[in-house]
Amino acid sequence: MARWSTLLLDDASLAEMPRLPVADVLRHADLVTAQEPHPQALYERWEKQQWSAQAIELEPDREDYERRLPKAARKALEESIATFIIGEYTGLDLLGPILTGAPEERDHLYLGTQIADETRHTQLMLRLGEEVLGLDPDPRRMLTQAWNMVTTPHRDLSRLETEVIRELQEHPSDYRRWLRAVALFHLITEGVLALVGQRAIVRSLHGTPLLSGVKAGFTAMCRDESRHVSFGLHALRQGVREGYGDDIREVIEQSAPIALRIEEGGEAESTEQGPTMRELGIDSLRRQLRLIGIEDAFADHVIGLSLRQQVSPEQ
Ligand SMILES: [Fe+2]
Ligand SMILES: [Fe+2]
Repeated sequence: MARWSTLLLDDASLAEMPRLPVADVLRHADLVTAQEPHPQALYERWEKQQWSAQAIELEPDREDYERRLPKAARKALEESIATFIIGEYTGLDLLGPILTGAPEERDHLYLGTQIADETRHTQLMLRLGEEVLGLDPDPRRMLTQAWNMVTTPHRDLSRLETEVIRELQEHPSDYRRWLRAVALFHLITEGVLALVGQRAIVRSLHGTPLLSGVKAGFTAMCRDESRHVSFGLHALRQGVREGYGDDIREVIEQSAPIALRIEEGGEAESTEQGPTMRELGIDSLRRQLRLIGIEDAFADHVIGLSLRQQVSPEQ
């Protein structure tokens, strides 16, 4: 058993990232969130954890993708990147109202750093779309292509995000609506979907010399996500303590079942061993609810709902 440490990924440069022990990358966010860092500590981590989306070399990855990757792995990579093209871009789009509605000054400063991160993630995804997958280089056309590649539950979740954020935009200093937006975005979209998706990519590329640019980028994104999820948990923990638990529960009840079915309707067959995305998502959901002070019985209830819901018809 390795000693308790987040140091390997905390201090790694982009060039070192593809060679980090995979276990360290996979558990990094859990170790960071367990420390319950406050926004100021997250700000300080952010200053030390800068990286460049432009510095990642993608030419070898394009060759791997075109010539060396088995068909099933290609399909899985295409679906993952399409999901992240939409996810990062919408994340950037939705964080504006969350930044504006921040209840405290330190929250506001931290959220400025997260907007910078999501901008960098979006830029990297546009590069992966164009330079590895060969999608249209025009961002607007690429986003349409990617939207057509993502699964129905992903589109449903994006629509729900738009609704919740619009509510916040119309009532910018309403703390209750701000918490609802943070519950949906930080806890579900980032804590369940993004973190699990990034880990799945890092894990599936572990042990192969292929796609080292993709691997470095997703490892750096995992590290950023540990700060994003930590912030969400901090804000929601405070919200639960202040009596807003039911508002948070309501949004999670609506969104978590969709998030746990995110892969439904996708064409890629699973190419890896180990737990499924759904199982990883369930673990992440339980863990985070516990960290904000919401009871296990509620997590069980939401997981039960996701089992009963069917894929909604193609819209
Ligand atoms: Fe991101
Ligand atoms: Fe994020």
